[in-house]
Amino acid sequence: MIFGATGDLAKRKLFPSIYRLFERGKLAERFAVIGVARRSLSNDEFQHSVKESVLSALGKDKNIDEFISHFYYHSHDVTNSSSYLSLKTMANDLDKHYRLDGNRIFYLAMAPEFFGTIALHLKSDGLTDVSGFKRLVIEKPFGHNLESAKELNKQITTAFSEDEVYRIDHYLGKEMVRNIEVIRFANAIFEPLWNNRYISNIQITSSETLGVEERGRYYETSGALRDMVQNHMMQMVSLLAMEPPIRLTTDEVRSEKVRVFRAIRSVEGDQVQDYFVRGQYDEGTINGKKVMRYRDEQMVDKESNTETFVAGKLMIDNFRWAGVPFYIRTGKRMLTKSTKIVVQFKDIPMNLYYQTEKMLNPNLLVIHIQPEEGITLHLNAKKAGGHFDAQEVKLSYANTGINGMNTPEGYEKLLYDCMCGDATNFTHWDEVALSWSMVDKISAVWEKTKEESFPNYISGTKGPKAADELLEKDGFFWWPVADLDVENCQ
Ligand code: BG6
Repeated sequence: MIFGATGDLAKRKLFPSIYRLFERGKLAERFAVIGVARRSLSNDEFQHSVKESVLSALGKDKNIDEFISHFYYHSHDVTNSSSYLSLKTMANDLDKHYRLDGNRIFYLAMAPEFFGTIALHLKSDGLTDVSGFKRLVIEKPFGHNLESAKELNKQITTAFSEDEVYRIDHYLGKEMVRNIEVIRFANAIFEPLWNNRYISNIQITSSETLGVEERGRYYETSGALRDMVQNHMMQMVSLLAMEPPIRLTTDEVRSEKVRVFRAIRSVEGDQVQDYFVRGQYDEGTINGKKVMRYRDEQMVDKESNTETFVAGKLMIDNFRWAGVPFYIRTGKRMLTKSTKIVVQFKDIPMNLYYQTEKMLNPNLLVIHIQPEEGITLHLNAKKAGGHFDAQEVKLSYANTGINGMNTPEGYEKLLYDCMCGDATNFTHWDEVALSWSMVDKISAVWEKTKEESFPNYISGTKGPKAADELLEKDGFFWWPVADLDVENCQ
């Protein structure tokens, strides 16, 4: 059951992903999808909208009529028990018709203020009384801060146990985010070096060229810290910093990630300004087009204090990482759309090649998350023909280049994991709670003090100057993401 079936997420991501699973034979005959939303629609109209969304997302519709015949629509009032009772009757009938063995997935793809109400009704009106499995998939934001997240968690866990809750972080569906563990734990050349003796710092950048679009109302209360850092950025940090799990089971992987969250240095009060920088975009030009400043966007306060950019330094106080800064940076309306991780290794103890025209570059391992997917290792080697001259060489592996096609959509993988009962790539409550408690301390300071310099970066640039200074004071600089692109690396 997809709650919010007439919404944007369902149309853009969920229906096309379900179609791809169908097309690849991952969904056999025995499945049914009930679209649940307020609007009144017939099954035919709903099936038509599913067909359209598949076509517009994927540009193909082989066997589409057979596919959409599995879709049903229920017009629903989320606060009304009689709505849930008729939904239950519909679900029970479909269960018999498709022989579903009482297995049910509830996907909440709608406004978060209804998450708790829906979960409570699902239980009290008997939709969770099934003979098979029941699973709840829940989109972000999971609360607005620790307190509201706790309240929400209390409500959903009265109806679902923790292992039945699948909290989506769509970054965990990205091919290269999933690859972080494999790169780390399947390579003898990396794991021994993956610590504070050999790594000087790690940089994670996730930049977007888009602004807030029509989401001003939500974004005003969220900002980049809650929208991107609390979830996606922190998840990448935990995968980069975790200890090798004893096994690749959900519990083992999650418990190692949770230990990272627990080791992140808590920063509060006056310390926040030493570790975190905020920014807000001004007007500017992106891809030759003029774009407006954040404060002129729809539903945004003209004096808004909301950040559209965050850069920060995280210190992980454990044996492996003591002294190694993890720098994170994310923003809207920046120069490029790109997510990259740069692992910078320490310099060699003595540089024999100083006499060359420039200093030796440090070794870098670049993990390209998007738009291109791959890894690049930056090494130094002898310049052909030269005497003792060294030059930088880059060894690249591009996922897309090798497979000749794009890797499956994140949502497709996450939906499939959920159907198979694999919760490894969903966030556990402990991760959510620890991450909120870190973020709450920063937002407490930012909400209290108005940032007089806002807007402080021009759209289409790298963000505010203070983000560069954050690294400069530690003797580092941000590796320019565009120069590290795979195509610039061959
Ligand atoms: C979402 C945020 O979680 O992630 C958006 O709410 C953001 O504001 C998006 O644009 C970025 O995702 P991606 O996959 O495009 O990097």
